[in-house]
Amino acid sequence: NGIRVAIDGPSGSGKSSVSKKVAAHLGIGYLDTGAMYRALTWYCLDRGIDLDDLGVVADAVTAMPLEMGTDPSAPSISMGGTRIDADIRTTRIAEVVSKVATNLQVRPKLQQRQRELMAQIAADQGGVVAEGRDITTVVAPDADVRILMVASEAARLARRSKELHGGADDAAIAATRTQIVDRDKADSTVSSFMSAADGVVTLDTSDLTFQQSVEAVLTLVER
Ligand code: CDP
Repeated sequence: NGIRVAIDGPSGSGKSSVSKKVAAHLGIGYLDTGAMYRALTWYCLDRGIDLDDLGVVADAVTAMPLEMGTDPSAPSISMGGTRIDADIRTTRIAEVVSKVATNLQVRPKLQQRQRELMAQIAADQGGVVAEGRDITTVVAPDADVRILMVASEAARLARRSKELHGGADDAAIAATRTQIVDRDKADSTVSSFMSAADGVVTLDTSDLTFQQSVEAVLTLVER
């Protein structure tokens, strides 16, 4: 049925880029569960749904025509046939996605959808690497390989700062801090991705290059 690899971690730990590369190397599928929370947020804003309307937002999980493209070399996110990859990565979405992710009516629905997607991708593509905040603990506690990818706050801020602001000077770091440290704090109220659950291997990437992080994950997968 294919190997299932689960990778959790906070913003800037390297989980997205490493997960994609590992899946591509293994020739299996890739699922970005954070993109699903972002896509739901985008859909609600697009429809004028009030994010504080918890039940209406939860109903949108089943109503939204979300399609996840799971090729790790070219992952895609579409809503009703329209690509929304760039639209879900804006500051506007980042600022409010935690509100959707901490909606306790939303989580079980998206988690169930992610479980089904993982099974389908593993069957169709020979395996899957799924990444997020609660994959090792809630979505797929029975995965073949479970990794919590962590990094020091300084390392995470420097990486994200380069991605979001093109540099890691003091002003860029400060702007990034409000964007990711605050979001991780909000997210950690519903998922325990700051510490590893039983049976989950912690991988600290603070002092690893991208390539070294990929190799560390491959070693865990292949052992
Ligand atoms: O930008 P970053 O890589 O940190 O986040 P992401 O993986 O794109 O996830 C976006 C948001 O979705 C997070 O801030 C969480 O609020 C939420 N999320 C979650 O609650 N559970 C997951 N399994 C994945 C993401």
